[in-house]
Amino acid sequence: MVIAQLVTRLLFLLVIFHYSIATDTLNPNQPLRDDQILVSAKETFALGFFSPGRSKNRYAGIWYNKLRPAGQKTIVWVANRRSPVSGTNGSLELNGNGTLTINSMIFLPMPSVALTNPVAQLLDDGNFVIREANSNEFAWQSFDYPTDALLPGMKIGWDLRTGLNRNLTSWRSDDDPSPGRYVLSMDLEGIPQLNLWSGSTKRWRSGPWSGIMFSNIEPPGIGIISFDFVNNKDEVSFMYNTTEAKLVTRTMVDQSGMVKRLTWIDSTGMWKDILNHPRYQCEEYSKCGRYGVCDMNIWPICSCLQGFKPKSPQDWALRDASSGCERVTALDCKNMTDGFMTITPAALPETSNAILYANISMNECSAKCLKNCSCTAYATANISGAGLGCVVWVTELIDLRLSSHATHVQDVFVRLAASDLASISTKSSKKHQSKSVILIIVFSMVALIIPLIYFYSWGKKKMIHKDIRGNGEFELAQLQWSTLMVATHNFATTNILGKGGFGLVYKGKLPEGHEIAIKRLSRNSTQGIDEFENEVTFIAKLQHRNLVRLLGYCIKGDEKILVYEYMPNGSLDAFLFGKEKGDCLDWQTRFHIIEGIARGLLYLHQDSRLRIIHRDLKASNILLDIEMNPKISDFGLARNFGDCETMIKTRKVVGTYGYMAPEYTLDGVFSMKSDVFSFGVLILEIISGQRNRILLSNPHLYLLGKAWRLWNEGKVLDLLDPLIGNSFSVTQVMRCINIGLLCVQEKPEDRPIMSSVVIMLGNDDAPLLEPKEPGFKAIFSTKHDEALNQNELHTFNDITLTEQTG
Ligand SMILES: *[C@@H]1O[C@H](CO)[C@@H](O)[C@H](O)[C@H]1NC(C)=O
Ligand SMILES: *[C@@H]1O[C@H](CO)[C@@H](O)[C@H](O)[C@H]1NC(C)=O
Ligand SMILES: *[C@@H]1O[C@H](CO)[C@@H](O)[C@H](O)[C@H]1NC(C)=O
Ligand SMILES: *[C@@H]1O[C@H](CO)[C@@H](O)[C@H](O)[C@H]1NC(C)=O
Ligand SMILES: *[C@@H]1O[C@H](CO)[C@@H](O)[C@H](O)[C@H]1NC(C)=O
Ligand SMILES: *[C@@H]1O[C@H](CO)[C@@H](O)[C@H](O)[C@H]1NC(C)=O
Ligand SMILES: *[C@@H]1O[C@H](CO)[C@@H](O)[C@H](O)[C@H]1NC(C)=O
Ligand SMILES: *[C@@H]1O[C@H](CO)[C@@H](O)[C@H](O)[C@H]1NC(C)=O
Repeated sequence: MVIAQLVTRLLFLLVIFHYSIATDTLNPNQPLRDDQILVSAKETFALGFFSPGRSKNRYAGIWYNKLRPAGQKTIVWVANRRSPVSGTNGSLELNGNGTLTINSMIFLPMPSVALTNPVAQLLDDGNFVIREANSNEFAWQSFDYPTDALLPGMKIGWDLRTGLNRNLTSWRSDDDPSPGRYVLSMDLEGIPQLNLWSGSTKRWRSGPWSGIMFSNIEPPGIGIISFDFVNNKDEVSFMYNTTEAKLVTRTMVDQSGMVKRLTWIDSTGMWKDILNHPRYQCEEYSKCGRYGVCDMNIWPICSCLQGFKPKSPQDWALRDASSGCERVTALDCKNMTDGFMTITPAALPETSNAILYANISMNECSAKCLKNCSCTAYATANISGAGLGCVVWVTELIDLRLSSHATHVQDVFVRLAASDLASISTKSSKKHQSKSVILIIVFSMVALIIPLIYFYSWGKKKMIHKDIRGNGEFELAQLQWSTLMVATHNFATTNILGKGGFGLVYKGKLPEGHEIAIKRLSRNSTQGIDEFENEVTFIAKLQHRNLVRLLGYCIKGDEKILVYEYMPNGSLDAFLFGKEKGDCLDWQTRFHIIEGIARGLLYLHQDSRLRIIHRDLKASNILLDIEMNPKISDFGLARNFGDCETMIKTRKVVGTYGYMAPEYTLDGVFSMKSDVFSFGVLILEIISGQRNRILLSNPHLYLLGKAWRLWNEGKVLDLLDPLIGNSFSVTQVMRCINIGLLCVQEKPEDRPIMSSVVIMLGNDDAPLLEPKEPGFKAIFSTKHDEALNQNELHTFNDITLTEQTG
């Protein structure tokens, strides 16, 4: 009897199981249990219970039925993201009145009117719908309650009739789909746009609809994806669709706060992101504050518009422009003498307070603006797609960027007092008006920054080095000892970040909250004084986005201190060789770092007005900013060389063993090509995640030797750090290894110069030579030990001979 019951029950289960697998519909009183799934008609999507990441919790959700990157489901919707089921007894049920429940609990807003004969169905576009069995109209759809993904055909934005606000909210973590920090929503203030929020802070904005796409988003290749933006009294929404049935694509807000569009690549079996925002620093919302303008192509990226000055020179001197700018001369609206300055090519500033006049000419618009005292700027608008209309700003301008990156660029006319306009027009030639405005902005920015730093009033100005005084161009802020004591809690050991070339480096926080890095010269170091002066001499004169930035200095009695911008991500060696951090460095980031170092080094060797050999390029001297941009640091050993000099011979070999070129270690000869050698070592370290160790007892562990061996055996991909995973371009990795090997060739004259390296890295079609044997034989020759004894081998922090042999 009991057995018979069990058998019928089993059979019943089997029937249900098969039935559920084969179907895309859920009927009332046929619950979907944890071990069952619905599959859409063409088997594109599946719906069922899953556990995300390492979590044991069960969630009901929708995923791509067939696409399994690395065996993982790609989840596109979660029904009960806030309320997981703890065991495998979950059951998703459609009630007789059309309400979905999980274990009898309602987890999302459901139809307010009871259905009589409901059925739920998973459609092939990933939409899970509830309707009357005899109707095609949806009473409810999962597309109205997005989690973090926007699928083709799904809307983001408002149904103004019902008050439904569809937005995307990131997962909290890989293990937890509950709502995270980041929300992408359609905001209706002013001119509607998509805003990416991080809590209550705006992080990025799409800009208004331009007729083709949101103005700050790059449109994809024409014809592959279509866009639909609706803006009327019933609805403000955005939707996209693929016109190519084979193209599988989705848009999402990920847990790091990026808006991404990903496309499935069949040949790799992976998702590839084809769109990423905010991608550039200038895309970060209000990066340069009110009336500030951001331009990625110059340094510093923030400046004030012509006719404006920094509101807080202190903050600007520390590269924090968020306080923005204010007018030099107040507007004169009674006498109507104001005029307009053209900013071009610009992306539209924040429009949440802007007013749209859909059908007026530019002349009318300009007149309208001049008449209204609170009007600050106007621009053309093409919201209707008719090429008509204008936008008028009646508040301070925020988030203005001069941009070749913005896809929809146009002119923005900023209102200025007549006297400020006059000072611009005397400087600009009429022929190239638009170009000169940009140039003026560039120059005015430099002109503003320099006096700012000069006048910055922490202490009286006193130049510490005659090279700097002689120049007058890049004068440094002198900081007060007491300020630094407070900033570092009296140089507390807990504030120590690490050990730099000539002393300890501390983290500090100024009263206003700015974080800085403070390098304090060891008092008893005579070597240190030379290096300190070297650092000040060079780095104060160099400006490049791949070099670390010196903000100021302090000298008091024996104390010599340099203050730098703080690099939140620390140094590259920790990421490469520190076990816990390794998995953060994917291939794209590594390649980005290689390229950045190459550009920084090219600048030192060829493009700066000094020509500089760094002499101590190594992973611990590469610092990483918040976006993982590499910055070359520590110029304590750098040497300036004249135009005619190509190499310098020294008796005192300084540098770091493992990165030093053989001709330098052995003969004390250094040149740009010895930096190229160190760069080659760095490339191979970045790719392999291994230090270039020199164990005299075991030359086979030498990274250059290993790379060379694998290169000749045609197994060079074995060099790749396993932590990189599967997501890399084989050609790009091969090219990088090839370039790395070219840089570490034995003869300096065989090694490429940095400008060739940058071209080879940046251009997949640039031909590459076959490398010759690296210069490692000499390192392990008997002569090497003599060299070690004869020369004072000066090594810093991390890599010393004893450490490696021990
Ligand atoms: C499901 O199982 C969990 C424990 O695993 C239990 O706490 C919960 O009450 C069960 N729910 C139902 C509906 O049976
Ligand atoms: C449908 O039934 C559920 C539970 O029985 C109830 O909570 C819900 O309010 C009902 N919905 C409607 C529209 O009547
Ligand atoms: C999206 O495009 C497909 C054809 O590629 C079409 O069948 C479908 O109806 C479209 N969806 C919407 C919501 O327009
Ligand atoms: C996102 O949508 C939810 C549900 O409609 C809403 O409660 C929330 O306020 C929205 N968030 C934003 C930033 O619009
Ligand atoms: C307007 O013009 C008058 C006379 O030219 C002048 O005195 C006054 O200062 C002007 N007002 C402003 C706000 O510039
Ligand atoms: C725009 O204005 C012109 C004349 O001012 C008028 O003829 C036209 O119909 C208007 N267009 C719209 C879309 O309102
Ligand atoms: C200027 O324009 C704003 C926005 O339209 C309006 O609120 C304000 O009243 C106008 N001011 C004047 C003086 O016309
Ligand atoms: C306005 O938008 C339409 C598309 O809707 C586009 O064809 C046209 O070029 C745009 N005009 C301007 C001036 O941007």
